[in-house]
Amino acid sequence: MRVSKEELFNLMKQKFMKAGLNEGAAHDVADVLTYADHRGIHSHGAVRVEYYSERIAKGGITANPNYTFEQTGPASAVFDGDNGPGHQIAKQAMEKAIEMAKKSGVAVVGMKHISHSGALGYFVEMAAEQDMVALSMCQSDPMAVPFGGTEPYFGTNPIAFSAPSADDRIITFDMATTVQAWGKILDARSKNESIPDTWAVDATGAPTTNAREVHALLPISGPKGYGLMMMVDILSGSLLGVPHGVHVSSMYQDLTKGRDLGQLHIVINPAYFTDLAAFKRQITTMLNELKTQPAAEGYGEIYYPGERGILRSKEYDEDGIEIVDDIYNYLVSDDIHYDRYHGKNRFAE
Ligand code: NAI
Repeated sequence: MRVSKEELFNLMKQKFMKAGLNEGAAHDVADVLTYADHRGIHSHGAVRVEYYSERIAKGGITANPNYTFEQTGPASAVFDGDNGPGHQIAKQAMEKAIEMAKKSGVAVVGMKHISHSGALGYFVEMAAEQDMVALSMCQSDPMAVPFGGTEPYFGTNPIAFSAPSADDRIITFDMATTVQAWGKILDARSKNESIPDTWAVDATGAPTTNAREVHALLPISGPKGYGLMMMVDILSGSLLGVPHGVHVSSMYQDLTKGRDLGQLHIVINPAYFTDLAAFKRQITTMLNELKTQPAAEGYGEIYYPGERGILRSKEYDEDGIEIVDDIYNYLVSDDIHYDRYHGKNRFAE
């Protein structure tokens, strides 16, 4: 069914407040989730509300966290999130990183003891909107086989990048380092759809098309994706003193405990490296050139990273955002959660 952006945001915010978050935190989490659904990233939107609500209600996301922010050097800082809502922590840490990069040219802000923060594009776009270039990366629970392995070791460890142009276009490259994010499997399950055999393996290590039989995900491009997910784990985990690789907490095993995840924002102020206006013009030129590149047969046209999400959001502004009926029914209900996630294995629905 279709709902307006405003209705979706309000329903999610109300649900999070009912689950125990204060209004500010509920606003921030709902805003990041609405961003995801509005861009067509349904794997990281409303589909997650019930899980987060169960975790908040059971204490595994600190409802009233005591955040601490410590600037550790001219361009470095660490944000301790006290296992509060990851979306709010990552948003506040990006605000700090932007502020620091305005003064110092670059800023690296680590976040430790946080919970899941959703679609990372939201945070890097905050920087691009203020004429900065940004990267963000974070840990997630072990789901991907190391290259050549049969058991999960690293998470889907995403990386996002954003840059401004001289017009209203923003580049947002935002990807899991697995062929697909786990949420895409979740999305396929919620719609009873099959998946391509290149995404995941079953318990025997063989490729599977059955979303319900997924045992582990595959890294992008074999050893290259495997190397990238290791890099993300070191930069957003080991660097911040939180558990690494296979020791990263499970999303579902114990919803009463904080997840102790790590995330890292890197913000670069182009004005400290080159002429800002020229930099932005060059990005515009790049995008214009890409848009006039010839498309191979079957591709129609060339898109820049993030463009398809923008096109989707324009369509959704006209027709409403597409939401699975069951999710909408849950959002409009008085229920906080249905006890569906606690104790499940990592590949729970
Ligand atoms: P995706 O595969 O849908 O897209 C990856 C990138 O490719 C995007 O930047 C997209 O704009 C670009 N792209 C897609 N099709 C394109 C085309 N035809 N031409 C040009 N560019 C194109 O993204 P993925 O890997 O499924 O990730 C989805 C979301 O999941 C992201 O927002 C990511 O941050 C989030 N995620 C969050 C995790 C967490 O623990 N917080 C874990 C894993 C993923």
